[in-house]
Amino acid sequence: KKEHTLVLVKPDGFRRGLTGEILRRIESKGYVLKGLKIKQADRALLEEHYAEHRERPFFQGLIEYMSASPLVAIVVEGDRVIEGVRSLMGTTNPTLAAPGTIRGDLGRDWGTGQVENLVHGSDSTTSAIREIALWFPELEYHAED
Ligand code: CMP
Repeated sequence: KKEHTLVLVKPDGFRRGLTGEILRRIESKGYVLKGLKIKQADRALLEEHYAEHRERPFFQGLIEYMSASPLVAIVVEGDRVIEGVRSLMGTTNPTLAAPGTIRGDLGRDWGTGQVENLVHGSDSTTSAIREIALWFPELEYHAED
């Protein structure tokens, strides 16, 4: 079944010039880009986006990392694209992420204590619907369409 997911090329990925490489992997897989923009995320947007992590010890650092410089927000369409993008990304920790994945091939630990892992992908249908509405309020369709 066709679905949509929200992908973010996080500030570290954008600053390092990896947007094209990340989009290449998503498009080469056969997924379709439905929305794309460069955005400087503010605190309010990120606190909403990461609401589930509000009580975690890394929350403030996460907001600072994600608002330090612009990022790229993308809506991607495809069959099972939510799972598919998560598979392309690899696991959260870039040192441990498998080679062949975006994080495994392009990410590493920088010794800052902050997990900088280049990319975000929605983790479920519920998250995708919520996140697409948050980052792309101007899009008339929603993740389940
Ligand atoms: P992601 O899995 O996309 O969404 C939650 C983010 O929080 C995660 O990427 C990291 O950027 C960050 N994160 C998760 N776990 C930690 C951690 N233990 N320390 C610092 N940041 C983390």
